[in-house]
Amino acid sequence: MKTIQNKNTFRFFDYKWKKVPNWGNITYKLYVKWYLNRYKYHNLNNFKKFLKDKNNILEAGCGLARDSILFAKLNKKSNIYACDQSPIAIKFAKKYTKKYNNVSIFRQDITKKFKKNIKYDFISCDQVLHHTPSPKKTLNNLFSILNKNGYLNFFVCKKKNNYRDLLDDHIMNNFKNKSPKKLWDFAIEVTKFAKTLHNLKIKNVKFNKKKYSNLQLFFHYNSFRAWYNPKINFDLSVSSNYDWFSNNPRYSMEDVNNILKSIKNYKVISIYEDDASISLSIKKLRDK
Ligand SMILES: C[S@@+](CC[C@H](N)C(=O)[O-])C[C@H]1O[C@@H](n2cnc3c(N)ncnc32)[C@H](O)[C@@H]1O
Repeated sequence: MKTIQNKNTFRFFDYKWKKVPNWGNITYKLYVKWYLNRYKYHNLNNFKKFLKDKNNILEAGCGLARDSILFAKLNKKSNIYACDQSPIAIKFAKKYTKKYNNVSIFRQDITKKFKKNIKYDFISCDQVLHHTPSPKKTLNNLFSILNKNGYLNFFVCKKKNNYRDLLDDHIMNNFKNKSPKKLWDFAIEVTKFAKTLHNLKIKNVKFNKKKYSNLQLFFHYNSFRAWYNPKINFDLSVSSNYDWFSNNPRYSMEDVNNILKSIKNYKVISIYEDDASISLSIKKLRDK
């Protein structure tokens, strides 16, 4: 099978943001909690303290700029820049951040040389790197615009198990040349199936020394991605399954360590790993 590549990221994301422009608002609380947890700030106070001396902040691959809104709420003095490749994301990010005077939104492919000649004290690239063709090159690009003593937070999706990775790869490969609409329609069917499994209320599934709180989660982690969250709109679960199957390579911790070997003069501040993701915070120690 062909290796999953990210050639279609741009058109798939434009379509996603058109479909769910309210994704950022609705999931704000959920994601803020997840962000604070993964990058080990644990609570808003600690994160506020962290942001206090960060003059220039960049959100790389901002989508709807949900994280920039958080940064702006916690530090009104910093200059916050948020960029994305998707014109639709940019349109909505501008709308949502309008009331924050210290947030600027601009269009930028983060795999290319940055148009703005600015160095940052903090770069947050959350849930983006694995969507770029070479996370190693993208990380190097971001590291090059980080100030000495600056921090870079990044995330990649994690490899699961051979079985699920194989099924996901087959589905991703199937959709790589198809239209975003076809993928969206497929995501609706997957989400309906996941909801049906969830609604069976079969709880506590034990398998290979692991315990899953219900059958849907067992299926999700052991077959192909079939995510469903009853706490949010059905469409938002659809968009998450859509996002996943839009050609989305996964990485192991070993892969992440290999990527890190390509940069120098950094210190790992925190590592978070769960069944689905890896998030790291690193600090730049020297410029050269
Ligand atoms: C899963 S979304 C995450 C958005 C945001 N960081 C968040 O956490 O809500 C990934 C975003 O990365 C953007 N993206 C992917 N590749 C990019 C690239 N090469 N340059 C800029 N943005 C990119 C997509 O357009 C999309 O908005």
